[in-house]
Parts: sequence; structure tokens; C-alpha cells
Amino acid sequence: MTSHWVRTGELRDLESYPQWVQEIVNDMRGPKDRVSGHRLFTLMRDAALPWRATRNFLVRVWPVIERFPQYMGRNLAKLEYGMPGHDLARTFLTRNVRVEQNHADYWVEWALACGIPREELLAGSQASASAALSHWCWYVCDREPLAVAVAATNYAIEGVTGEWAHLVCSSDRYAKSLPEEQRKSGMRWLRAHARYDDAHPWEALEIVATLLGAHPNGREVRAISSALRQSYDYMRYTLEECLAEGEEELLRSFEPRECAA
Ligand SMILES: [Fe+2]
Repeated sequence: MTSHWVRTGELRDLESYPQWVQEIVNDMRGPKDRVSGHRLFTLMRDAALPWRATRNFLVRVWPVIERFPQYMGRNLAKLEYGMPGHDLARTFLTRNVRVEQNHADYWVEWALACGIPREELLAGSQASASAALSHWCWYVCDREPLAVAVAATNYAIEGVTGEWAHLVCSSDRYAKSLPEEQRKSGMRWLRAHARYDDAHPWEALEIVATLLGAHPNGREVRAISSALRQSYDYMRYTLEECLAEGEEELLRSFEPRECAA
């Protein structure tokens, strides 16, 4: 049974949302926190992330950053005039397509500040976990209903990204590890995403709740829950793959050299 729902409480207060939304958000805290507090980000914050892991991360996550406006374009194509939540979604998506296009430029500047040339970023990678993440984002925005797609990308991916960016920016060690002349441009992407008061994920959650109403059926609720879990899990697999290869390099650098007898 779908029933009309319009937010009356504060945008950034979970209690303003229907019970089913509150339950999903609470259930997904574990999978979300395993991304936002991932060791890759604590090492990055401490300026202790092996260079190979930094390179892996920036190159492999780039396709998702670059295609984020395209994901939103797939969702814009689903809009119908007068349907509940569709006007909210139209305003949100059209406004944020341009913002995300700027963010792609900021990511390129971040990579440059880390010594990764633009060509290397654009050449891409053969790694499978990050490919699964970008395929998932494309698939869900291209083929799944609007509410599922917005939940998977604009709520889950953008929301958790704000949290890990906040973690990395919580100390100035990482910023200071970048070359001084590229520090400002290199930190622009992180600083743009590190605002804890960012309304975007909440606006996305409001769209999901408005599209599905106060009492969606069980299948619709499970689809949202599963979409959030997949977004968090594919992100975590990506981070683990980037870090594992970076740490192999770190361990090799500590291996005892053979003594000449
Ligand atoms: Fe962004």
C-alpha cells in the first residue's frame, strides 16, 4: 500500500522521515560505517597511505566521479510530470548535474597534486572491485526505478563520501603532505565534500521517501535496502582492493635484505 508522504519536520532529522526509512537507515549504519571509517581513509588522514594505494584509489574511483552527472542524467529521463516526488527529483538532479561536473575537475586536480597525470587517470584500470562499483552505479541508474537509483547513488554514495571526506579533512596532516603550490587545488574536492551539514544526502532521502510514500510494499522496501547495501559493499571492496595492493608494496619495502655471507 503506497500512501502519500510530504516532509513536515527538519530535513536533517531522521525522525522527520517515515518509519520504514528510519529502519533502513539504522540497519545500514554498519555497512556505511565500514566505508566511512575504512583504514584507507584513516591512513590518508594521517598522511600514511602508501603511494600505490593513493594512486589505485584516485585512478579506480575516477570512473564513478566522472560518470556521476551521467547517472543523474539517466534518472532525469525517468521523470514524469505531476508524479509524487518527481518535481523534487527534477530540481535536485538538474541543480546537481552541474555541481558534479565541477567535482570531476576537482578530482583531476587532486590526482595532479598527488603526482598522477591526467592521462594516467583517463587511461583507467583493469581492477575488478572498482569496475563492479561503477557498473553497479550505471546499472541501478539506467535500469532500476527512480527511488532505488537515487537511494543507491545520491543518498548512499554521496552521503558516505561526505563522511569519509570529513574524516580525511579532520586533521591538516593530509593537506600538508601535498606540495604547497598544489595544496589549495589538490584539496578542493575533499573540502567540497567534507561539510558535515551537506544537505544533498538528506535531499536524496526526502526524494526516496516522497516517491514511495509512508507505506510502500515489502518488495519496494527490500529494493531500497538492498540498493544501499550494494553501494556500501561495492565501495568497501574497492577500498580493500586499493589498500591491499598498496600494503603489499609497503611490506616489500620492509623485507630484510639478504646478507652477503
Ligand atoms: Fe561531488
